[in-house]
Amino acid sequence: MIMMKGKKILLAVTGGIAAYKSAELIRLFIKNDAQVKVLMTKNAQEFITPLTLQTLSSHPVYRETFSLIKDFDIAHIALAQEADILVIAPATANIIGKIAAGLADDLLTTVVMATKAPVLICPSMNTNMYENVIVKENIQKLTSRGYHMMEADSGELACKSEGVGRLPELSDIVEKVKSILAEKDLAGETVLVTAGPTREPLDPVRFITNYSSGKMGYALASRARRRGASVILISGPTVLSVPRGVTYVPVSTAVEMRHAVMKNLKQSTIVIKSAAVADYRPSVCADAKIKKKDGPWTLYLERNPDIIAEIGKKKKERILIGFAMESEDLIKNAKAKMLAKNMDLIVANDVKQKDAGFQSDTNIVKILDRDGGIEELPVMDKMDVADRILDRAKMIITRRRKVA
Ligand code: CTP
Repeated sequence: MIMMKGKKILLAVTGGIAAYKSAELIRLFIKNDAQVKVLMTKNAQEFITPLTLQTLSSHPVYRETFSLIKDFDIAHIALAQEADILVIAPATANIIGKIAAGLADDLLTTVVMATKAPVLICPSMNTNMYENVIVKENIQKLTSRGYHMMEADSGELACKSEGVGRLPELSDIVEKVKSILAEKDLAGETVLVTAGPTREPLDPVRFITNYSSGKMGYALASRARRRGASVILISGPTVLSVPRGVTYVPVSTAVEMRHAVMKNLKQSTIVIKSAAVADYRPSVCADAKIKKKDGPWTLYLERNPDIIAEIGKKKKERILIGFAMESEDLIKNAKAKMLAKNMDLIVANDVKQKDAGFQSDTNIVKILDRDGGIEELPVMDKMDVADRILDRAKMIITRRRKVA
């Protein structure tokens, strides 16, 4: 059974009408044997008194008052460090926007910035605000950065309108907290993920690349981190936000990627090569911009290092997972790649399928293992595909350690 016994929950209450529900939420957490400390923003105190929340939590309430700002310089670090989870309920559009923008101008935002604990955000606001495109973008950004985001419920709102925007049911928030606290099955592992395309320059203004968006690799990094692993994300150029809590190593060319991978290989227990590495690079990169001339132009390319093949040769106990993108004979080709490069698993996708591949938020993959197993997954969000891949890695680790 998933427990929260003895877990330290820091509940942050922000200034929305649903702030009154935080009193009941504290009671529910305590009923589940958690320790609760409460932090209130200035506006939250307009909706419910600190005395109520202090009485229910049996701890002084941390709050923004001018006279205490100085003490909070230290308090925010202690609060950020000791919490097993930070729950923001209700979370207003304002606090979601501030976190997404990276602001840290009050106690709550500094705690959010300083904590390494999982952060669960439970939005509550008027329907039009919840559906506002800026709020939606902020929610999406925080989700992609590894923040846990609950969806607001639908129903009658304080402003008497019907719609989406209600604070999620308190029992659902409690369940969500339990599942987040239980999700640490990769604690102790170091997951190295490569993501995105590489860029192979031919002169100072031009390069060869591919359409990889990096979404699959970033999803893997985000989910591995969420499940308690230390994560090293080595990425070619993308427009994505780096998930919180991961060590980020930006690279550009395949040669740089190889160097970064080899440097970080030793401490890694799981290596997932989701990057779309260019197989070739221009033989020469001109110092100055190449000027056009009459007639055709021959560009000479040479092979890039095959990074995954090199890891395969020295992989030892670590789990090695590769990707294969094929346009024909998917299974046959993917299997051959897995065996030739000493991978434990290969994630194969068919470039010709809709809703799959480089730019999409979803993917349709088959996970092949060395025993001949083929797990065919339906169309899924890349975050969910990431979890399925990590589940398989975890299974192999557990099996190997049992045998050893
Ligand atoms: N890969 C790598 N280094 C390269 C090229 C690819 O590490 N220089 C990795 C990718 O990250 C991916 C897997 O290898 O995990 C893809 O296998 P590969 O056989 O290189 O695929 P393709 O490059 O698509 O091969 P082919 O062109 O032969 O289909």
